[in-house]
Amino acid sequence: MQTIKKMIAEKLSEGIAALGAPATLPAEELIGMLEYPPDEGMGDLALPCFKLSRTLRRAPVQIAAALCECLQGLDPVEKAEAVNGYLNITISGQYLLQHVLSEVKAKGDRYGGSDVGKGKRVVLDYSSPNVAKPFHIGHLGTTVIGHSLKKLHEFVGYDCVGINYLGDWGTQFGKLIVAYKKWGNREMIEQGGIDKLVELYVKINNAISGNEEKGIPADPALGDAARAEFHKLELGDEENLSLWRWFIEISLAEYEKTYKQLGITFDSYKGESFYTDKMPAQVQKLRDMGLLKIDDGASIVDLEAYNMPPCLILKRDGSTLYPTRDIAAAVYRKNEYNFDKAIYVTSNGQSLHFAQWFKVVEMMGYEWFDQLIHVPYGTVSINGAKLATRTGNVVLLKDLFKAAIEEVSHIMEEKNPDLENKAEVAEAVGVGAIVFYYLSNSRIKDINFVMEDALNFDGNTGPYAQYTYARTCAVLRKAGEQACDRLTVTAPEEVALLKVLSRFPEKVENAIADYEPSVITRYILDVAAAFNRFYHNCKILSAEDAAVRATRVEIVRAVNQVLANAFPLICMKKMEKI
Ligand code: ARG
Repeated sequence: MQTIKKMIAEKLSEGIAALGAPATLPAEELIGMLEYPPDEGMGDLALPCFKLSRTLRRAPVQIAAALCECLQGLDPVEKAEAVNGYLNITISGQYLLQHVLSEVKAKGDRYGGSDVGKGKRVVLDYSSPNVAKPFHIGHLGTTVIGHSLKKLHEFVGYDCVGINYLGDWGTQFGKLIVAYKKWGNREMIEQGGIDKLVELYVKINNAISGNEEKGIPADPALGDAARAEFHKLELGDEENLSLWRWFIEISLAEYEKTYKQLGITFDSYKGESFYTDKMPAQVQKLRDMGLLKIDDGASIVDLEAYNMPPCLILKRDGSTLYPTRDIAAAVYRKNEYNFDKAIYVTSNGQSLHFAQWFKVVEMMGYEWFDQLIHVPYGTVSINGAKLATRTGNVVLLKDLFKAAIEEVSHIMEEKNPDLENKAEVAEAVGVGAIVFYYLSNSRIKDINFVMEDALNFDGNTGPYAQYTYARTCAVLRKAGEQACDRLTVTAPEEVALLKVLSRFPEKVENAIADYEPSVITRYILDVAAAFNRFYHNCKILSAEDAAVRATRVEIVRAVNQVLANAFPLICMKKMEKI
């Protein structure tokens, strides 16, 4: 629709110039003013002329009438009407057909994308689980939103670097080492993997703070022991270092399985530990600039002038904190990648943290401070229950995936028992269902996860979208090569579908502008809905007229391409047969 809008806007700009008004308007500005009317009966595009009335010093009705006149005979325009100061435009179905089919054909798997980001680089920090703590459903957001944003940026030409900023340093390792030495052994971890590590982690937390429900008394001495073990690790104690490396290795192997199911890869796994030796220089800079204040023994940056609590840089004992590491990491990444944007995806619980250290970066005089972008998202509960890592009351991401895959296997066993690659399809559909359900919501909204809803093959779900894609594949398989190249639009369902297809590039733009993958998820549902209406109401392969049949097959081919391009943007795999 963008190119069509552009043609219309250019004509309108000429029409405005011809008004002889005291001002003119460039086409670029008019493009932004063209609206999609809420009601089909009002046409496909509308220009609210009252918005021009001041600059042009003409009555809206007069402007609308004149512009209506100037559009007559323009190729894409089937009808232009002036109604109460609005200019309503209906696009010609035949024009849309030619336009959409040739665009999709010419651009292929790049249809929907662009090169606006060419020559620019984006660094994305996402997923970043804390090693040895459970990788739970709360991490779904950062993982899939982050990866979607990466795919979206790549799609419009940016060079992207995906960073998994592993939480691989901190006092949790002290706890884990104590727990391991007390209750664990090599064999048990080798066999049980990350689950055993998490079990140990939960056990030690319960032991340190006590757990009334379970009748466990608090044992603060274990807390001291954990701090001591972490301190030994910081000092480079060989035994602790090798345990630490081993714990990370085991955790990473587990994360990789989940990433593989999602089709996610990272370009860098430099975690928190990597920045240990990069922090002192930044702390010194803060000190030299007079930005550090001592508050009750701790070093802070006062942010009162910005209505924020102080940013903590060093604890009383001189140890560094989460913001300190983020500042050092940002400086390192700027030097290493020279990014144009650095995106951080975390839950909105960390919004203050990011606002604070972004401000500190600005105060430090780094002129790229405004290239730092925090993308927050809401909390996830499952069937209404909140999550808590420390007490072990969590739903692990892999268990959620597993449950979905099993459920899909049952459904498929009933629906399509003869399917060849059942396991692969069940995984793609099951995992896709969860991702799709999650990304259907605006990211900032809190979500309550309900499995039955996510897996409903008849609802607005991932399985429904994937099923639609498979259906287009089935039609194309049966259609074979076609000879007829005389194409003609004959049904309103075709036009409606073509309109939806024409809007894909704009949707991609909008999704990027708002850092909002749900724009794509909802768009996929629009395509699916329009396609299924078309599929049910229009004969495709059985159409009598050769030109009608050929047209419809080509439309299906375009739908197939658009869905194929859109699915990876939201971490969803596509399956040709379900
Ligand atoms: N590891 C952190 C957590 O799980 C998230 C890290 C986000 N990225 C960052 N640069 N702070 O809470």
